[in-house]
Amino acid sequence: MSGLLAGKRLLVTGVITDASIAFSVAKLAQENGAQVVLTGFGRMSLVERIAKRLPEAAPVIELDVTNEEQLAGLADKVREHVDGLDGVVHSIGFAPQSCLGGGFLSAPWEDVATALHVSTYSYKSLAMAALPLMGPGGAVVGLTFDATKAWPVYDWMGVAKAGLESASRYLALHLGAKGIRSNLVSAGPLRTMAAKSIPGFEQFEDAWADRAPLGWNLTDQEPAARACLALLSDWFPATTGEIVHVDGGYHALGA
Ligand SMILES: NC(=O)c1ccc[n+]([C@@H]2O[C@H](COP(=O)([O-])OP(=O)(O)OC[C@H]3O[C@@H](n4cnc5c(N)ncnc54)[C@H](O)[C@@H]3O)[C@@H](O)[C@H]2O)c1
Repeated sequence: MSGLLAGKRLLVTGVITDASIAFSVAKLAQENGAQVVLTGFGRMSLVERIAKRLPEAAPVIELDVTNEEQLAGLADKVREHVDGLDGVVHSIGFAPQSCLGGGFLSAPWEDVATALHVSTYSYKSLAMAALPLMGPGGAVVGLTFDATKAWPVYDWMGVAKAGLESASRYLALHLGAKGIRSNLVSAGPLRTMAAKSIPGFEQFEDAWADRAPLGWNLTDQEPAARACLALLSDWFPATTGEIVHVDGGYHALGA
């Protein structure tokens, strides 16, 4: 098998529709020589149906990243399909409605805690659950939305992403000695199920359409997926704790 990820064994979380960033990652990874195992959350029959639309049907393991039992059993379940992992993709985010759309000042702690558990803490949980299968050269890659700024309507999800960006740096710190890298792709707005659940998401769409120096296609997940593949590959061997922006250049602009 040839390709950027020839012979690599990947665990990809976060597929729920074929618009999911994770779906593009899994598809491109297979096209580039990787063997892919998916995890799915909640609507398993839907995820299994979507998994069959990949170039090669991929096995799907159930995983709620907040479920300690499922996390503890993950490595054994993955071992039923591959004998180790070279890469793990965290493509997971969720915040209750109270935390989004301008709700920053009123969201209750229980809802904020859910957002942080699913979107931030889970990055570490997933990496640790997969760690028994990983060795030197391994890579963990996650998806963020530029958390250096306060965005209208993103609210506690923005705080969760700031935490994720920090968590990735700490994972880089703690797993570096094992030769395992941790990096994030900071994507511009894309029309996925998660994005549609953010009231006022159109504001991002308009801003990117108007201002991104390279322009921005809201329905093309491939640029973000390509960056994930690059970070999973052997072509960033000395890069960890990094955030690669795939946003048409929007982050580089002043106000
Ligand atoms: N769409 C965008 O505009 C955009 C931009 C930048 C970053 N991101 C990030 O990309 C990642 C993927 O999101 P997407 O846009 O592809 O949307 P998506 O809705 O396709 O994917 C989100 C995934 O999170 C999963 N998930 C939610 N709660 C979970 C839990 N408890 N356990 C396990 N999985 C759970 C869902 O099942 C779903 O598969 C997220 O981290 C998101 O914040 C998205």
